[in-house]
Amino acid sequence: MNTSRILITCAKSIPSFLRQELVELNYPVLSETMAGVETEGTIDDAMRLDLFLRTGHRVLFTLKSFAARDADALYREVKDIPWETFIPADGYVCVTSAVAMPGIRDSRYASLKCKDAVVDRIKERTGRRPDSGPERDRSVVHLFWSDGQATVYLDTSGEPLSRRGYRKIPLTAPMQETLAAAVILATGWSGGGNVVNPMCGSGTLAIEAALIGLERPPGLLRGSFGFMHLPGFNDAVWQAMREDARRLSKKTLSGRIIATDVNPAAVEAAKKNAATAGVDHLIEFSVCDFAETTVPEGGGVVVMNPEYGERMGEVQKLDAVYARIGDFLKQKCAGYRGYVFTGNLDLAKKIGLRTKRRIPFWNSGIECRLLEYELYEGSKQKTRGRGDAETRGE
Ligand SMILES: C[S@@+](CC[C@H](N)C(=O)[O-])C[C@H]1O[C@@H](n2cnc3c(N)ncnc32)[C@H](O)[C@@H]1O
Repeated sequence: MNTSRILITCAKSIPSFLRQELVELNYPVLSETMAGVETEGTIDDAMRLDLFLRTGHRVLFTLKSFAARDADALYREVKDIPWETFIPADGYVCVTSAVAMPGIRDSRYASLKCKDAVVDRIKERTGRRPDSGPERDRSVVHLFWSDGQATVYLDTSGEPLSRRGYRKIPLTAPMQETLAAAVILATGWSGGGNVVNPMCGSGTLAIEAALIGLERPPGLLRGSFGFMHLPGFNDAVWQAMREDARRLSKKTLSGRIIATDVNPAAVEAAKKNAATAGVDHLIEFSVCDFAETTVPEGGGVVVMNPEYGERMGEVQKLDAVYARIGDFLKQKCAGYRGYVFTGNLDLAKKIGLRTKRRIPFWNSGIECRLLEYELYEGSKQKTRGRGDAETRGE
């Protein structure tokens, strides 16, 4: 297949990490929006991106861009695409859409029009009509239609790439895998030094750190992608790509990854998830209060995602937890860089340490920050004094 534009969608605040990933994989960045980055390549490139990207959600291969003022024009233009070469006549197709068109109040109507055009075309050319529905585990087509301009994509990912396939046991408020990967990338950790992850919950940050440290592509964990349902899908090329990636990834890490949580059920789930991801031998799990977490000599990053009172816990009770996080970072983590991911900046003030950076993120519609603390050895670390804008407020 020819080269085409490839749009990779992602969560808000993630494009800078996604762009960096593309650059490191040697792909050009053609444009960047609030929730996506565009590059170009062939279907094989799309497959490679599905395999390697850690922070992207969907790899969308552009089939056609056109002007369409109404649903009939949309139908005609979509029907003109040679769908019989992209979707098996005995297959199953799901059409998703993002629509901002005057007169189209429900994007499901646009999806339906698009789906009709796809299956009508295949029926006309082959005599058979593929099934269709909401499941994204086979062929997926995405329609973007805004201000009279439409683009139709083949969604080569199918299920979003955040579904790595290892989190069989999610607990309350787990972090999405793609977000956890972006958080680890934001810490700058890439395999040297230790990663300490108290409050690990279902283990997403520790598992993503292990995959990043090993340079093991997250797509190796998945058995199913949208591109596998292309009639011309070349399994030999895909297997060779996977084999190369596996061969080039590291087998061990130089530092330690330590993950703890006070909830035994969380640690149990995290262990199982890590085993499914094939990295359980690299993560030292234990059940304890975060302040009792072992912090090994040698430095590295300490990364914590405490509750922030939006979905779990109560803000008032969390005041004391955040103050104790400050004490833990100051007293036990000298020589490390400390990171706290939170959606509540008032609570963050209770940490009482000077932030070096505040990296913006979004998590389930909530604006969050990854706060970075430089935890100097000896006496350099300053706590905030009374009257300071970010004093603990005690
Ligand atoms: C927001 S969740 C972390 C979610 C995690 N990032 C994930 O992806 O699953 C916060 C976790 O902190 C744990 N926690 C709360 N208080 C704690 C404490 N005092 N010591 C250790 N863990 C604690 C909870 O059990 C919960 O698993």
